[in-house]
Amino acid sequence: MSDKISVLLSEEQVLTGILKAAEQINHDYAGKSIHLICVLKGSVFFTCELAKHLTIPVTMDFMTVSSYGDATESSGVVTIKKDLDESIEGRDVLIIEDIVDSGRTLSRLAAELETRNPSSLRLCTLLDKPERRVTDVTVDYVCFEIPDEFVVGFGLDSAQMYRNLPYIGVLEPEKSNTPQ
Ligand code: PRP
Repeated sequence: MSDKISVLLSEEQVLTGILKAAEQINHDYAGKSIHLICVLKGSVFFTCELAKHLTIPVTMDFMTVSSYGDATESSGVVTIKKDLDESIEGRDVLIIEDIVDSGRTLSRLAAELETRNPSSLRLCTLLDKPERRVTDVTVDYVCFEIPDEFVVGFGLDSAQMYRNLPYIGVLEPEKSNTPQ
């Protein structure tokens, strides 16, 4: 049986939100270069779309961290599974996330990367669920605040499925046991 997914943000809305963030970043980093750090896997689609609209010089690197394991709540312990290829010392770094939920992943990751002496470090996310926050991490660029729903698409998954959807959808709970 296939899952029911309802559209929360259409493809057009998502692309418009990303373009707006890119314009703000172009403005804020005028005259500088920016080093984007894509946090795999969920941020791939967002990072690529954002980067296409940046007019300042861009370099990119990729990192894999694990905060959830098999659990549905992040553990608070962030393990680096794939580290960056290059040093970030002296660079203007922007960490790109697909979603900030509890905020544990981003706050731990930012603390780790601060120890590597970047010239500046800012945080950017496609989606923010402020209701779920348990840390005081400040995200500099937020494309969309969303309610506390289980969302998929544009990089976000459910058991590795649906990352390729071009929109953000809410995965509806199964109603197979409901009498009709
Ligand atoms: C997701 C997301 C963030 C984190 C946010 O990653 O990409 O990294 O969870 O949750 P938090 O704010 O509660 O810490 P996930 O571990 O699902 O990996 P994925 O990007 O490979 O899907």
